[in-house]
Amino acid sequence: MLVRIAADRVEVQAPAKLNLFLEILAKRPDGYHEIETLMTRIGLYDSLAFRATQSPEIQLDCRWAAGQRGHQQDSLGDLPPSEQNIVFKAANLLQQRSGCGRGAEICLVKRIPSAAGLGGASSDAAAVLVAANIAWELNWSRERLMRLAAELGSDIPFFLGSGSAVCRGRGEQIEKNGPIHLHVVVVRPPVGLSTPEVYQRCRPASTPIGVQKLQSGLRSGSWKDIKSALVNRLEEPASQLTPWIGRLRQEFENAGCIAQQLSGSGSSYFGICENARHARRVAGRLRSKRIGMVTATTTIG
Ligand code: C5P
Repeated sequence: MLVRIAADRVEVQAPAKLNLFLEILAKRPDGYHEIETLMTRIGLYDSLAFRATQSPEIQLDCRWAAGQRGHQQDSLGDLPPSEQNIVFKAANLLQQRSGCGRGAEICLVKRIPSAAGLGGASSDAAAVLVAANIAWELNWSRERLMRLAAELGSDIPFFLGSGSAVCRGRGEQIEKNGPIHLHVVVVRPPVGLSTPEVYQRCRPASTPIGVQKLQSGLRSGSWKDIKSALVNRLEEPASQLTPWIGRLRQEFENAGCIAQQLSGSGSSYFGICENARHARRVAGRLRSKRIGMVTATTTIG
């Protein structure tokens, strides 16, 4: 995330993520699944501005960025009421745990679609923890923020780090990965998917695949190795919930990407392209199919 400290507020650019790899290892007694996933940030951002106030109330104003409403509304998803927004919950929890007597005016401008498998809400939550830690002068360490983040959601600790990472446990155990430089096209179709519903339908792999093959493919830059090592074990349960996943798989195959798959629990699908020109060409083809919100971008090392 990019953090800017202005005179009266802290501004954070909170990126989306893609799961280049996601294997389900086991179902846990607490209802979560033990996973191994390789996550990377991409150049699609929500903008959060945090202003500390003397009164203890926390106020959140959350809206879609101008130009993203209108014809793309279906493909952006829903915004929850302020007090159910994870940004509000995260600020509230940090305020309680730190005993901070101050409040905040938070403005969140969203570009990352929701129910999309792109981690928008988790990234926003990580952004508000970092902003509040600065604006409320709490001086919490990164490790302490990470523990609070893990209580709020499995993907949030990833966004407190930088670059790409292999995440294990329920997703909250982070191991840094080397930089990844890929050109990608992401499509969020007109329907979203609920993470719990997708996980509920998934089956742990009988012979789990390891992430190492993809890591070595990414290091060597061999398209063939990368293509054969992409995995998302949630793609099958997601495609049982909506025909859009099968449709997107077909559209990406036709559009001529190097490789393609679902991100996280969906509903977004992404394709890897050779370079920026290739990504623009693929994005143009997919836009003409009217299959949702199409973004051509890169991973952020
Ligand atoms: O942790 P988070 O709130 O993001 O998880 C949302 C839901 O996704 C969980 O309640 C659970 O149903 C499912 N989940 C899971 N295994 C994971 C992560 C999430 O089953 N590793």
